[in-house]
Amino acid sequence: MYIGLTTEWRYDILKSINNGECEVNPIETIKKQLIGKFESLFGKGGDIRAYFAPGRVNLIGEHTDYNAGHVFPCALTIGTYAIVRKRTDRNLRFYSVNFEHLGVISSSLDDLTAAREAGWTNYPKGVIWAFGQKGYVIDCGMDILLYGNIPNGSGLSSSASVEVVTGVALRDLFGLTEITMTEIALIGQFSENKFNGVNCGIMDQFAIAMGKKDMAIFLDTADLSFVYAPICLKQEKIVIACSNKKRGLGDSKYNERRAECEMALSELQNVIEVNGLGELTEEQFEAHKDAIHSEVRQRRARHAVTENQRTIRAVACLKEGNLEEFGKLMNASHISLRDDYEVTGKELDALVEAAWKQDGVIGSRMTGAGFGGCTVSIVREDAIDSFIQNVGKAYKDQIGYAADFYVVEVGDGGRAI
Ligand code: GLA
Repeated sequence: MYIGLTTEWRYDILKSINNGECEVNPIETIKKQLIGKFESLFGKGGDIRAYFAPGRVNLIGEHTDYNAGHVFPCALTIGTYAIVRKRTDRNLRFYSVNFEHLGVISSSLDDLTAAREAGWTNYPKGVIWAFGQKGYVIDCGMDILLYGNIPNGSGLSSSASVEVVTGVALRDLFGLTEITMTEIALIGQFSENKFNGVNCGIMDQFAIAMGKKDMAIFLDTADLSFVYAPICLKQEKIVIACSNKKRGLGDSKYNERRAECEMALSELQNVIEVNGLGELTEEQFEAHKDAIHSEVRQRRARHAVTENQRTIRAVACLKEGNLEEFGKLMNASHISLRDDYEVTGKELDALVEAAWKQDGVIGSRMTGAGFGGCTVSIVREDAIDSFIQNVGKAYKDQIGYAADFYVVEVGDGGRAI
């Protein structure tokens, strides 16, 4: 989903992502500004509530979440803010500070269908629809103002962030206290799959719902069991490089990759008992791969299998404090995504290959679905300036336009603010 930013708001965003350097409590400041905007649009009074859900970055474990494999994402401190108030009728009124030119977009609880012209509102509408599908009663309309400070279309999951913030708001406003955060994640995924037509896995919504400050989530997508793993970077930081190549999952080859994996799995099931590619070791895969009757599908499946094993190893390395090996596994992940899974593209390859050449880079890879979007690098703090300068220059020289860089912090999951 594309979120364009106006200058006025970009200022707050910069403050909020610059490690809080210019702002003591960016969330409070942004919330206050947004409530002011909400009141000027929809009127004062009533029970106005505020919520936040982060974006996420996946450190390793890419395209494994729909293959019953492991992922290792973390929530960020940037994300989506929602200011919401119930209405007495069944109308829905949406406004995004990121799309001010679109003005207020109206809809109704009696018209919860996905429509191209509904643009970004398809995400919150999809979640309201999904609550109904799951048997939860949403019996009155709402005024909803959103604002996101996740770099747009970047692969840091702005859409899942909107889905989770909507879920958290609905649970609170309609007193649906029995709904767990895991269920909010699942409802978000359900809405993305069934309402918005993207066959995504559970990683994004799960990381965004369950995130914890300074922790990454080691999630087994086969059964949703997970553990938090501390990201104790002492002299390093997580640096995101946004390629500025716009993409949306809907128009990418995401669904095609998923179908290729499903087909490879069903071919393997002719010769071995297996419920998901993530169940296989590399040795098992090598022993049975000839059951997959296409070279391309073999490579897709090999990525799913090796990436899952790399993710398990990477988390073990982090636990042992072996950041260097963790970084090497990140690099290997990118190579597999580039050569076997073919989801990187020249922009992400240019960023990662330039990053690998820099001093102080522990590891660098594409993150998210691919086909544009972002890379994630772990960079020694004293090398960040030269990293941004050199990678930025190499990218511009090669691709023709600039990349954006963000030094991010690991934050908490979706919540009322
Ligand atoms: C997108 C999807 C996730 C996951 C990643 C790739 O972000 O939403 O479910 O499949 O791509 O790892």
